Amino acid sequence: MKALVYRGPGKKEWTDVPKPAIEKPTDAIIKIVKTTICGSDLHILKGDVPAVTDGRILGHEGVGIIEEIGSGVQNFKVGDKVLISCITSCGKCDNCKKGLYAHCEDGGWILGHLIDGTQAEYVRIPYADTSLYPVPSSVDDEAMVMLSDILPTGFEIGVLNGRVKPGDTIAIIGAGPVGLSALLTSQFYSPAEIIMVDLDDNRLEIAKQFGATKVVNSSDGKAIQSVFSLTDGGKGVDVAIEAVGIPATFDICQEIIKPGGNIANIGVHGKSVEFHIEKLWIHNITLTTGLVSTNSTPMLLKSVVSNKLEPQKLITHRFPLDDIMKGYDVFANAAKEQAIKVIFSND
Ligand SMILES: NC(=O)c1ccc[n+]([C@@H]2O[C@H](COP(=O)([O-])OP(=O)(O)OC[C@H]3O[C@@H](n4cnc5c(N)ncnc54)[C@H](O)[C@@H]3O)[C@@H](O)[C@H]2O)c1
Ligand SMILES: [Zn+2]
Ligand SMILES: [Zn+2]
Repeated sequence: MKALVYRGPGKKEWTDVPKPAIEKPTDAIIKIVKTTICGSDLHILKGDVPAVTDGRILGHEGVGIIEEIGSGVQNFKVGDKVLISCITSCGKCDNCKKGLYAHCEDGGWILGHLIDGTQAEYVRIPYADTSLYPVPSSVDDEAMVMLSDILPTGFEIGVLNGRVKPGDTIAIIGAGPVGLSALLTSQFYSPAEIIMVDLDDNRLEIAKQFGATKVVNSSDGKAIQSVFSLTDGGKGVDVAIEAVGIPATFDICQEIIKPGGNIANIGVHGKSVEFHIEKLWIHNITLTTGLVSTNSTPMLLKSVVSNKLEPQKLITHRFPLDDIMKGYDVFANAAKEQAIKVIFSND
């Protein structure tokens, strides 16, 4: 079969590799129907994730059809259409029992990281019963792919950790796929104001279409003053969601947060930040961090089925799976290409 294989920092190829086979009774082999690229795949290609080794097939998002199941798989049968979660969970360890699938003792984020991933014609999914979700026939496959990673990430690590409430003024720093997912799912809780901050006017325009009430282009270096000027009485925000992953945007969150507010960090940080505990403690600020668990996926799936959530709006580009190298070029130049999510079809 063909797959997108990591060849060390800066290098990848679309090449022939052996088709995966069942290794444990709890495995399933899935024929990929749709897959996509995540910002984390670009981090891997830059060499930022050293656990990924030469020869690894990338990708942790997708929808597919079950081709083969191990003898221990009970919830699925051959031919079922399934959503692949970016997080693999055994469902039985202490962390899985708490819903903390991100830290499954025999899973977590392993797909396209520690084991071969979804940017291929076929993929092996361990613990199929608890790591796959049935796709209802009424739902668009491409919308489903947005549920593998970015929607649960924006929702769980941004909106739920940030405890967004009706009437809140919230700010989301970063209007990439993850920040936009936080924007879409924050609206379940009817915040009064959603201020979106980014450097890219095109993404801010999309954010307005998706429900942002105010936008700030922070390329002038004045994000903090701009956010204050947009809040009621210049008081700052109840919830600040960090969806970039650099010190500058973490700093913005620490500055704009109101007493009693929550800073929900989603961004993956490669560098340490300056944490201003000397200013924050007296303001009763809560800071949360986290790796997505995807335990909200069944709930988000119901919201997509009922059209309360339309994640297909995040898709800007489509390619056949064979053209994934071209798709990587588009996604890596997202600002210039006006790209948000790029979908690949294996027809
Ligand atoms: N915690 C988790 O479980 C989890 C899961 C998936 C992704 N992530 C992380 O979430 C973050 C966002 O992911 P994404 O795919 O949306 O990334 P992305 O790179 O597509 O988007 C980041 C956005 O931030 C904007 N930006 C960059 N510098 C900025 C600045 N100084 N001020 C304001 N905006 C700025 C960019 O223009 C871009 O639109 C990344 O760090 C990613 O690794 C975390
Ligand atoms: Zn991802
Ligand atoms: Zn587990």
